[in-house]
Formats: sequence, structure tokens, C-alpha cells
Amino acid sequence: MEQLTLVDRLSHLSTELTAAERENLKFLLSMAAGGLLSGHAQAVPEQLREVALATAQRSLPRLHGTERPVFDTGVVFLGRGSFFSDEDIAALDGESRRYRERAERFHDHYVASGAPLARELALSTQVNDFLVSQVGPVLPTYKANYLYYDEPGLGIDPHVDKDEFSLNVLTMLEHVPDTRHSELILYPPEQDAIRVHLAPGESLVFFADSVTHQRTRTVAGEAIRLVSFGYRTIGSV
Ligand SMILES: [Fe+2]
Repeated sequence: MEQLTLVDRLSHLSTELTAAERENLKFLLSMAAGGLLSGHAQAVPEQLREVALATAQRSLPRLHGTERPVFDTGVVFLGRGSFFSDEDIAALDGESRRYRERAERFHDHYVASGAPLARELALSTQVNDFLVSQVGPVLPTYKANYLYYDEPGLGIDPHVDKDEFSLNVLTMLEHVPDTRHSELILYPPEQDAIRVHLAPGESLVFFADSVTHQRTRTVAGEAIRLVSFGYRTIGSV
């Protein structure tokens, strides 16, 4: 009989859990991966740390059943998407600036939700058709957030996103000055980290509740504005 790994066992366990229990397990694994990536277990032997990290990272996408698209790096697309016109980007940029004063602090960055133009574009046929061409049918979650990292020391430690952003279309609107310090880093399991530097108008489409990722801290004078649209692949639970 084929030997089951701990990842297989956790995946199987997930099928027997309620949605709330699965969310709990996902949170635990995400905290474990984030903590290990942040170097919080130095007293533990390196080999065990590596196995534990890979187990947590590989288990996260498996909690959502076998219908989830095959997971490698978690990156679906990176670049200037054909799904946004220059006018779309300019309109998002303007709305993002206007919504800054409404943004609320969420841990170590600021978030503004419910902006009408962002919501409308998140539901557009262009974005939907592009996502379908890349990963098959998707459902919008009606979540569209403007994100702001515009004070020194803002960022977000390694984590995975909530289910509402399981497939995340993350678009850069502004990152100043030209010399950047803060960067988005993805940690696909047992591979080199991927450092993502988006130019204004460029998007990263990725499985944000499957691949651990972080934004490193801003320095004085640095300011970043992004917009994030949430989707789910059909068949995920
Ligand atoms: Fe995230």
C-alpha cells in the first residue's frame, strides 16, 4: 500500500471537518508557516524545521479538496494585464487616492473596502474571462480592497489570505520613490522565494490562500498603493 504522507493525512482530515474547523486548521498551518519563515523556531533542529515548513506550506492548498488547480508556485499571472485598460488603471488610481482617508488600519497596513469603481471592475467580463482562460471557472467574492503602505514600518508578515481572496488579483497603483525597500515575497514550498516588484498598472494573480507571502517593511518616505480583487475557483470549498 502506498505510504501516506502527513500532507495526505491532513488533506484527508480536512474532508471530515466543518467549514469552521477547516478555517481553524488553515489558520494554524498559516501561523506555523509564517512563524517558521520569520525565524521563530531557531532552537528546533533545522531538518525538523524544514520538514514542518514544507508540510504546512504543502497542506494549505490541499485543505480545499482535490478540485483545486494544481499548485506549483501559486502564481497564475504576473505583468501588465490585458484585462485593464489604461483608463481603468487611471480610474482605480484616482479612487484609491480619494479613499485613503477612509482606510482603516488592519495590523500593519491600511485597507479601504467597498469603493464602487473597484467593485465594478472586480466584476468585469474582461477580468472574469482572463481568469477563466488561466484557471477555469471562477466566482467573484465581491471583495475589492485598496491597500496602503504609506508610513515607515508598514508591511505584513508571512501569511496566507482568507478564503475571500483565495485567488487574488493584486494590482500596483503607486510605489514611490523609485528606490524601493518594501517588496512582496512569495514562498512556494521547497522552492526559492519569489520577489515580486510590480510597476504601476501591473498585476500579480496568485493563489493567495495557498502560497505563503509577505510584504517587507516600508522605510521613511516610501509609499505604496495597491488594489486587490478576490475570487474563488469553482470547486474549492
Ligand atoms: Fe496577503
